[in-house]
Amino acid sequence: MSRTDTRTTAAGEVVYEGSSLELQDLTLAYGDVEVVRNVSLTVAPGTTTCVIGPSGSGKSTLLRGINRLHEPKSGDVCLAGRSVLNDKPDDLRLRIGMVFQHFNLFPDHTALENVALAPWRVKGQSKSAAHGLAEDRLREVGLGERMDHRPRDLSGGQQQRVAIARALAMHPEVMLFDEATSSLDPELVKGVLRLMAELCERGMTMVVVTHEMGFARKVADQVVFMDEGEVVEAGTPEQIFDDPQSDRLQTFLSEVL
Ligand SMILES: Nc1ncnc2c1ncn2[C@@H]1O[C@H](COP(=O)(O)OP(=O)(O)OP(=O)(O)O)[C@@H](O)[C@H]1O
Ligand SMILES: [Mg+2]
Repeated sequence: MSRTDTRTTAAGEVVYEGSSLELQDLTLAYGDVEVVRNVSLTVAPGTTTCVIGPSGSGKSTLLRGINRLHEPKSGDVCLAGRSVLNDKPDDLRLRIGMVFQHFNLFPDHTALENVALAPWRVKGQSKSAAHGLAEDRLREVGLGERMDHRPRDLSGGQQQRVAIARALAMHPEVMLFDEATSSLDPELVKGVLRLMAELCERGMTMVVVTHEMGFARKVADQVVFMDEGEVVEAGTPEQIFDDPQSDRLQTFLSEVL
């Protein structure tokens, strides 16, 4: 089956087919300063890895290295078993979707236009096919009734759902989330986290930088704790939250829990 086809469940929901993601000794630097050092990580297809750690520990830089918004200094990134470091960054970003803290929607476009834009302009689908696809993705994230609204007429949570639908419309193999709920009002956080958990259940491969420890505990297959640019501990939520081994993780958890 080609990746442009979508399989659906009996209930009509899209089944995602996430790919594996593997980081091997990945190092990222700003100038001479290495802010991510020798990170190795395996994310199995259709699983969710949550990355936690203090501010400045390199979490965002790591995500940006995965889809090469920041070029790695050394090491490798493999998607579906193949290195992507020699691929064109634009091609890679069709395969890896990213959702940021700030939604980065086009303010003068409706929700529908924001989601349809890349399938139409970048993937070369016809405008009507791209609009059909955008309608499906927006319904899936619970915005069927608000497709014709512009970002300013949507709540923060709804805008973040549009950003998620926009990433999904490219039929990515992996989704990266960088603090996707941290600029939302508390009452809107839950709905977006629920949507992310649904994507996980439906087979998407996800790497989620979050300080929502409840989400990490409940949804993650693997939790990775970073500090000062390094992975200090990785394991199941039970291992990380109930049986932390290092002083650094114990200290971090005592501050955030
Ligand atoms: N553009 C940049 N130029 C130089 N140094 C940078 C740049 N962006 C980030 N850094 C530094 O790299 C380190 C890692 O930053 P990063 O944003 O990846 O951390 P983070 O774990 O995502 O933090 P936070 O939880 O606050 O988002 C920090 O020391 C930061 O100051
Ligand atoms: Mg960050």
